[in-house]
Amino acid sequence: MLKLLITGGCGFIGSHVVRLFVEKYPDYHIYNLDALTYAGNLENLVDVESNSNYTFIKGDIIDEAFVNKLFEDYKFDNVIHLAAESHVDRSIEDPLAFVKTNVIGTMVLLNAFKNLWKNNFNNKRFYHISTDEVYGTLGETGLFTESTSYDPNSPYSASKASSDHFVRAYGETYGLPYIITNCSNNYGPNQFPEKLIPLFINNIINNKPLPVYGDGNYTRDWLYVVDHARAIDVAFHDGVNGETYNIGGFNEWKNIDLVKLLCAQMDIELGRPEGTSENLITFVKDRPGHDLRYAIDASKIKNELGWEPSLIFEEGLKKTIHWYLNNEEWLNNVTSGEYQNYYQKQYN
Ligand code: NAD
Ligand code: TYD
Repeated sequence: MLKLLITGGCGFIGSHVVRLFVEKYPDYHIYNLDALTYAGNLENLVDVESNSNYTFIKGDIIDEAFVNKLFEDYKFDNVIHLAAESHVDRSIEDPLAFVKTNVIGTMVLLNAFKNLWKNNFNNKRFYHISTDEVYGTLGETGLFTESTSYDPNSPYSASKASSDHFVRAYGETYGLPYIITNCSNNYGPNQFPEKLIPLFINNIINNKPLPVYGDGNYTRDWLYVVDHARAIDVAFHDGVNGETYNIGGFNEWKNIDLVKLLCAQMDIELGRPEGTSENLITFVKDRPGHDLRYAIDASKIKNELGWEPSLIFEEGLKKTIHWYLNNEEWLNNVTSGEYQNYYQKQYN
């Protein structure tokens, strides 16, 4: 039985990846290593937690002795590494936390994997999940390709860029078989409501202001999270060692246009008069170092591995809204406690 370690499986994207692999591959054993930070939630995986091919392990990827012992005990054949600090605004507040988890944590995993298999990397693979933000910002035109130079602007993207470099360096130096994928902004069920879409859904439900940074003319390329999980499945199985693949939604939106669409859809779902949610839009102080535009050229993964997004944005957004409206308990649980302090500090 193939032993697959997935890190960060209790987070937003990780939970969708764990679910897909546990359900689709009964002959794999999936080990989910997660520290359960504010962003990790066991509730995200209640539907698969009792499957016989699934094991949850609580632990911190920074803890070298613990991680080394785990690799020695379980002898994971493959790793899909998603655990990270993932929010740009938090990285501006506390950059060192991002270096610890995203850089050192990745190094600890790389070392443990290398030390376990260094004499025979046959059929082994370390799959590192990264972001398009490592490329920095685009102007009004152009797309990020796999050969775009790294030029990160936030502590978050700098930490992810650094981890990507270490993964490549382990490939070059130690022959460690790896692949890296760099994906655009994800949205969908289970995303922590500090990121744009779930934050604004939650604020609309509660009639709170929608804090649009700057003039709102920033562009992101949005991908439904289940489509990202599908891409990870394809890249994990069919990707070529030593390669990187960009993953994107072919779906660029200026923040302000996206927020207006979200407001219109929320008014319909909540049975509120047209324009009610849009009235909550409030332009606030811009994010420092705010990247103007991200847009992915995902033609390599499309042409070489046959992956493309399955949902159009309007459909994905509707599914997302329905999920949040049907899971108010989840939303209430994650927005109590520490979240209130974060919100106060960030938006006051
Ligand atoms: P998330 O913040 O929702 O989840 C991160 C998970 O990692 C949580 O379950 C958390 O408990 C866990 N974790 C954090 N620090 C840990 C540590 N030290 N040890 C063990 N576990 C730890 O993040 P996400 O949005 O699901 O992102 C997952 C990965 O995908 C990240 O590597 C991120 O950089 C990348 N990514 C995210 C997006 C996006 O739009 N969200 C886009 C592209 C790439
Ligand atoms: P976010 O969801 O934080 O993702 P990222 O910074 O990784 O792209 O933000 C998406 C966009 O929305 C980004 O341009 C910043 C903007 N934004 C706001 O305007 N207001 C907010 O409160 C947040 C969280 C984000």
